[in-house]
Amino acid sequence: MTTYSLSKGSPTKIKTDVLVVGVVRTDKGLSAAPGGEDVASAYGRKFAPLLSTIGFTGKPGEVATLPTSGVVTSPLLILVGLGDRAAMTTETVRRAAGAAARSVSNASTVALALPAVDADHVRAVADGYLLGSYSFTRFKSSETPDTANEVVILSEVARNKEAIAALATAQVVARATCLARDWVNTPAGNLTPEIFADAVTDTGRHNKAAKVSIKVTDETKLEADGYGGIIGVGRASANPPRLVELRYKPRGAKAHLALVGKGITFDSGGLSLKPGAAMTTMKLDMSGAAAVIAATFAIAELGIPVQVSTFAPMAENMVSGNATRPGDVLTMYGGKTVEVLNTDAEGRLILADALVKAGEQKPDLIVDVATLTGACVIALGDRVAGLLGNDEETLATIKASGDRAGEAFWELPITEEMTEKVRTNSKVADLAQHNTERWGGTLYAAAFLQEFVGDNSWAHLDIAGPAFNEKDPHGYTPSGATGVGVSTLVQLAQHLSENGRKK
Ligand code: BES
Ligand code: ZN
Ligand code: MN
Repeated sequence: MTTYSLSKGSPTKIKTDVLVVGVVRTDKGLSAAPGGEDVASAYGRKFAPLLSTIGFTGKPGEVATLPTSGVVTSPLLILVGLGDRAAMTTETVRRAAGAAARSVSNASTVALALPAVDADHVRAVADGYLLGSYSFTRFKSSETPDTANEVVILSEVARNKEAIAALATAQVVARATCLARDWVNTPAGNLTPEIFADAVTDTGRHNKAAKVSIKVTDETKLEADGYGGIIGVGRASANPPRLVELRYKPRGAKAHLALVGKGITFDSGGLSLKPGAAMTTMKLDMSGAAAVIAATFAIAELGIPVQVSTFAPMAENMVSGNATRPGDVLTMYGGKTVEVLNTDAEGRLILADALVKAGEQKPDLIVDVATLTGACVIALGDRVAGLLGNDEETLATIKASGDRAGEAFWELPITEEMTEKVRTNSKVADLAQHNTERWGGTLYAAAFLQEFVGDNSWAHLDIAGPAFNEKDPHGYTPSGATGVGVSTLVQLAQHLSENGRKK
């Protein structure tokens, strides 16, 4: 476990194994970013020429490691680029702290002389370092995480109440994000619905102070209670489905937020089988469930005065002699019937049940999070999530919460045309699960989900792109699971607690 602290100490005199300093581009060339000025002064006129000798340009995310040879007390300097000084935002700082964290190795103590100029920037430095130092080593037989024992954030506002609170919040939210990452990175064979549900229960047990109550419903009860979507998707797997519910009900709650997360522990596509290459990352398909569950624990741990009711349907989408077939009709929780036309569009089926259940609680707002459509990755790439729903004000609030959290969301429409198709394209059931053409797949999926939210305010976050980074790490984003959504949901709860219910 790494200890994080704030200190007003001088970066030139601190005796840590590593000292991190930011570099910005200005019209006068490269210079140390706020917080690192004293280090640049210690180098005197040699600082900028030294940077140019090693080819350092100061672009965002660039890092260089230099022995200090006694110029400052710390023996090793890690320089990290922050880009143009004028364009620097909290997100620039968060990413730079993450890039720095990834380049620290074998250090026991680290000091960060980054622009922690106020509480928001302290939060960004802490967020970035905490998230950037993540690694997943559970299945590496000869690797253990290489993390420091002590990280000191140097800041002029180190003793300020808001700064101290910002560091504490960062630690809770980053820990939750890393919990979601761990669950998503765990291979599907080691995280069946049953194991996932047990892991949530265990987390709740170790988190007693946070007062989250947890209920797990097994396949027998799901069947008896009419959860046709969850049973229909999960029935072909040797690992039966679960529905996990979390409840956090603080005294004096300012609003009631319902969260729903897609928990497909593996998506083979079912009888509408995916091609092999499209299946290799499909352990990621429970990222939505991981995000809403981890966020619920974080909201509770922070004591945010918002009631949270969370629903995570968990199922493994597999093939077998008893699999749901294309053409089968499922009766969803609440009674609507759905004609299944493509068993690979399974997410919307388990979410339908859970959305109806969430709506029964009469929350002020329902937010679902799901790796729902490949079409959303085509539309927005792998760093931006799709944002759809039935209430513009809610969508704007979520977009703003995402911006604060460093998570990008972009609105896509639910058109009347799509709603019409969902309602009329099946000749045998109430609703058609799958569109007859592939265009606008994200819109159709959301239009389908909308049929199950009744008159509740509702937003749908399609995180198929940003949930999992198949490429190299960047900023504070590792390869593999990103934990996207956790930070935005905590920020949203914070917003609701400050601005009250919106009905
Ligand atoms: N889990 C996938 C969506 C997905 C794709 C997530 C790529 C992350 C990366 C989802 O269940 C799925 O298979 N969607 C289909 C829907 C189609 C059959 C309508 C898709 O996107 O192809
Ligand atoms: Zn899926
Ligand atoms: Mn699928």
